Amino acid sequence: MSLSDAAAPYGAQSGAVPAPRKAVTLSRLADMRARGEKIAMLTAYDATFAAVADAAGVDCLLVGDSLGMVCQGLDSTVAVSMEAMRHHTESVARGLRRVQGAAWLIADLPFGSYQASREQALRSAITLMQAGAQMVKLEGGGWTVDTVRFIVERGVPVCAHLGLTPQTVHALGGYKVQGRDDSSAARLLDDARALQDAGAAMLVLEMVPAALSARITGELTRCATIGIGAGSGTAGQVLVMHDMLGVNLGKPPKFVRNFMAGSDGIEQALRAYVQAVKGGTFPDDTLHAW
Ligand code: KIV
Repeated sequence: MSLSDAAAPYGAQSGAVPAPRKAVTLSRLADMRARGEKIAMLTAYDATFAAVADAAGVDCLLVGDSLGMVCQGLDSTVAVSMEAMRHHTESVARGLRRVQGAAWLIADLPFGSYQASREQALRSAITLMQAGAQMVKLEGGGWTVDTVRFIVERGVPVCAHLGLTPQTVHALGGYKVQGRDDSSAARLLDDARALQDAGAAMLVLEMVPAALSARITGELTRCATIGIGAGSGTAGQVLVMHDMLGVNLGKPPKFVRNFMAGSDGIEQALRAYVQAVKGGTFPDDTLHAW
């Protein structure tokens, strides 16, 4: 596909394009959550895949700092720079604009760009918003609450991230399921409530037991939970796009399903993912949860 025809939605060349989707907004996401329509999110790092994912009906695109592993070949997300996040956010935003995309665009604040102070966090968030993001995501529990409130009050929508927080993989001792015992489960629940109260409109729950993420989802009335390896009870799901397309430098995590299997091409695989999330057939808690 070429993005040379700036006015045409992705796929318009084939003449098989449905009417453009309505833009996904914060209020539409809140409405989906309230109606129980599952939110389908994927990562994207470049213009072309962003356009294909948008055409496939993905609700939200995340320029994840997983780009460090997927695009840069790093071992973890720790070394991902603000400049890399800005560059990929601009690319994805440009791809969406070129096809008049509808997906809601979230970008990760990388490690080291928000820990020092809430002012540092705001400056970093503004950089990503000016690169085209509509929301920023940051990792961490209680200590991030003041930062989240500060950023939200200044007009930046925030997605929080609890459970396995890959930027702190070394402190956590590896990529392990979080919230397995009563005290860590209670802490996650308290942190989730506090982040909602601080104004986080979305919360990624990564590698958390299915029962706990369903409980957190039930308790939060103003914040949509998005699970990754967190069972089927969340308001939505996210996967790293390369993982769900079966393109991976290592072994994909256990919670991933390869949507290329049985699909004719990438757009069809992405559509199958959206349908599986919305239809409740992914994740399957007997296979993809703890
Ligand atoms: O960086 C990333 O891609 C993420 C998601 C997988 C949640 O944070």
